Amino acid sequence: MGLLYQDRVRRQVVAALEHGALCVCDLFAKTQGAFPQDVKQALDDLVTEGTVVLANGTATLAAPARPSACPGDPSLALRALDRVEPHPVDYDWRFSPGTIEWLATEFVSRHLSRARWACLGTPTLFVHLRALGFDAVLYERNRSIVEAIRDGRAICQDLTLPVPGRSFDAVVADPPWYADYYKIFLSRASEILVDDGFLFLAVLPRLTRPSACADRLDVQRTALALGFEICEVRPATLAYDTPAFEKRSLENAGVACKQWRRGDLFVLQRVWNEAGAPLVQPDDYGLWQEYAFGSVRVKVRRGSVKKKGALLMRLPEATLVSRRSPLRPDVDLWTSQNDAYRVGDLDLLHRVLRELQAGISPQQLVDELPTVNDDDQASLACLLLNLWNARLGGQP
Ligand SMILES: C[S@@+](CC[C@H](N)C(=O)[O-])C[C@H]1O[C@@H](n2cnc3c(N)ncnc32)[C@H](O)[C@@H]1O
Repeated sequence: MGLLYQDRVRRQVVAALEHGALCVCDLFAKTQGAFPQDVKQALDDLVTEGTVVLANGTATLAAPARPSACPGDPSLALRALDRVEPHPVDYDWRFSPGTIEWLATEFVSRHLSRARWACLGTPTLFVHLRALGFDAVLYERNRSIVEAIRDGRAICQDLTLPVPGRSFDAVVADPPWYADYYKIFLSRASEILVDDGFLFLAVLPRLTRPSACADRLDVQRTALALGFEICEVRPATLAYDTPAFEKRSLENAGVACKQWRRGDLFVLQRVWNEAGAPLVQPDDYGLWQEYAFGSVRVKVRRGSVKKKGALLMRLPEATLVSRRSPLRPDVDLWTSQNDAYRVGDLDLLHRVLRELQAGISPQQLVDELPTVNDDDQASLACLLLNLWNARLGGQP
């Protein structure tokens, strides 16, 4: 029996015992067809290393090991992320504190607390796991978040690009809920996982949008094609905090609700190594330049295009958050508070925001503007004043 195969049988024995103690005869029937001699060998190894306790013919998982060190207070560590307000362009829906804790407890109870973890696009969970002492690395493309975390293990990485030479026992991933993003995250997870490694994947629920059932099916097909097997589906177990931009949109639609968004947790195992096709950037993410004013983030389309019409034309925000919104291509400037504008002179806007960020006051900036009409001056002054207040610590 090859070492690798033996290791896989051991993992399966542990997985079977996660649901409770089993007499050895029953265990033989729950190990995915492995021969009883191989299961017995795996069981003996697990008993010797202290992972399983065997008494009176019944096997039980020993109390799960805690992570090796406990360097920090998780809730304190998470506060660092409050300095970076979620922005719709980043699809930044963050797990609720309860979900973060629940996931960490799940990982511990599945005997994965000493595993090598990769967190793909899950910064809040990464911060919590690190504070608990997990051996985890974060891959996340949002530079503002990575910088706020201040941990050498948080790596600013766009997952459309390969993750160089690493292998992990477990991966947790929460991609933007679109099939093209799932493809990227699943491909990377499959590349960096060891054989039989686990992937914990957040998946959009069936009624997220009209195409959600088809999108879920697509996720499953992609996963299978990349060598994953789906072991468990835990519906509606992942709760999300409602970001400021979504609160605004709900308020504008006259809907009062607090935390409402839930995701399904899929547990997958990479049982086969299947190389995926080359990956491409799914949307216009790379085309935005970001400016920060306090915790408020402003994304402006790169470039210097001039358009006919007003310098700043406010767009209705109600439906913008969805990638399906027909208005999205018109948005040139978008704040994390979900204020969105079409911009007449991008070059001018970039210059003004750079200078505002550097500390030049809105009044001075507006006074020094080249010839623009009174309406343009008034709408720019209003935007700049809001951002200036956010920079000083007040909300816009
Ligand atoms: C839906 S959010 C998940 C956040 C997670 N629920 C949490 O609480 O930490 C998606 C995350 O994936 C990141 N992301 C999106 N596309 C990415 C890519 N191509 N490479 C790396 N990260 C990406 C986003 O910046 C965002 O942080």
